[in-house]
Amino acid sequence: MSLVKNLLSQKKWTVNELEYLLTMKDSGDILNLYQKAYEVKKRYIGQRVSLRALIEFSNSCQKNCYYCGIRQENHLSRYTMKREEIVDCLLESYQQGYGSAVLQSGERQDSFFINLVGDVLCDLREATEGKMGVTLSTGEQSEEVYQMWREKGAHRYLLRMETSNRELFKKIHPENDSFTERLKSLTTLKKLNYQTGTGVMIGLPWQSAFDLANDLLFFQEQDIDMVGMGPYLAHHETPLAELGRGFIPDKQDSYYLTLKMMALLRIIMPTINIASPTALESINTEGRIEAISVGANVIMLNITPTQYRQSYQLYPKKSLTSLAPLSLRKAIQKKLDPLGEKLILGERGDALHYTEGINKKEGLR
Ligand code: 5AD
Ligand code: SF4
Repeated sequence: MSLVKNLLSQKKWTVNELEYLLTMKDSGDILNLYQKAYEVKKRYIGQRVSLRALIEFSNSCQKNCYYCGIRQENHLSRYTMKREEIVDCLLESYQQGYGSAVLQSGERQDSFFINLVGDVLCDLREATEGKMGVTLSTGEQSEEVYQMWREKGAHRYLLRMETSNRELFKKIHPENDSFTERLKSLTTLKKLNYQTGTGVMIGLPWQSAFDLANDLLFFQEQDIDMVGMGPYLAHHETPLAELGRGFIPDKQDSYYLTLKMMALLRIIMPTINIASPTALESINTEGRIEAISVGANVIMLNITPTQYRQSYQLYPKKSLTSLAPLSLRKAIQKKLDPLGEKLILGERGDALHYTEGINKKEGLR
């Protein structure tokens, strides 16, 4: 067996082995990696893709991450959708077969915002008899707030660490953002029994393959249930585009690095949920489908009404057009057909990693 095939069939990996697999250049080796990852996906998850209705319900944010287009200091028109408007959009998707929702926004800790999310959760639970799954992606909050939202029906939470390298984290965030605090939030979410997700950006200035290999091990160490990671895309109206000048990898390189990260993650964590990154589509229109073919199993379709799209440009070339939920999912299914992959309708699409974990815990009792 070749060195790479050997490495791919191991059960445990060192950081240097993962780094090697991320940097290998031989096209035959890379194909082996992709094929192995897809085999693992088929074996553990099947040719199934979980569907999420993603709504970017507010672009108001109190943070100033150096890479993000909607950071507080940027001048853009700020919006927060109304409770009824958010719920109506999500219920329309629910009726069109979306068994799960993702509520995403900038980060705010004021009571208006916290109650808005709480109210939407209550309305959704009531209208769908608790059947629609809900993931929140609303940043760092206190334990009390996480708990209140959990009690009102949120059961998955996505909080990206952006990188597991503390030094790199410091370089891409203002001084008052703390890696330690964010990690604490992640631990709190797990304690509260959320299906817990995190993720990183790939191709950040100063980031090495060693860092990315460590990110993969970080997901394992944290025993994370789901991952959302994607390529970093420099937004010219942000400090990082300037600070990182000369250190930003070529977009095509970030694209392939992202596919390798997806594939390796599927191999080392076969039962977690891995989202196909929307940001890949800004580099290659087929990006999200390619991600499925190397191991991703979740697709988030953006149902945010058109009038808000222009104001939610985290990175450049983020799609501005919106289709109705039904047409959106049909268009994706058509692209998935050649792979033999099926969008799963009407299911919450929980991570096996999480449900199996619960079964194990209950078996111990
Ligand atoms: N390129 C790629 N991803 C970005 N994000 C924010 N800005 C960018 C960018 N310029 C991602 C971050 C954040 C998520 C909401 O969007 O990972 O957690
Ligand atoms: Fe705000 Fe999130 Fe953008 Fe940071 S990445 S500025 S928290 S929206």
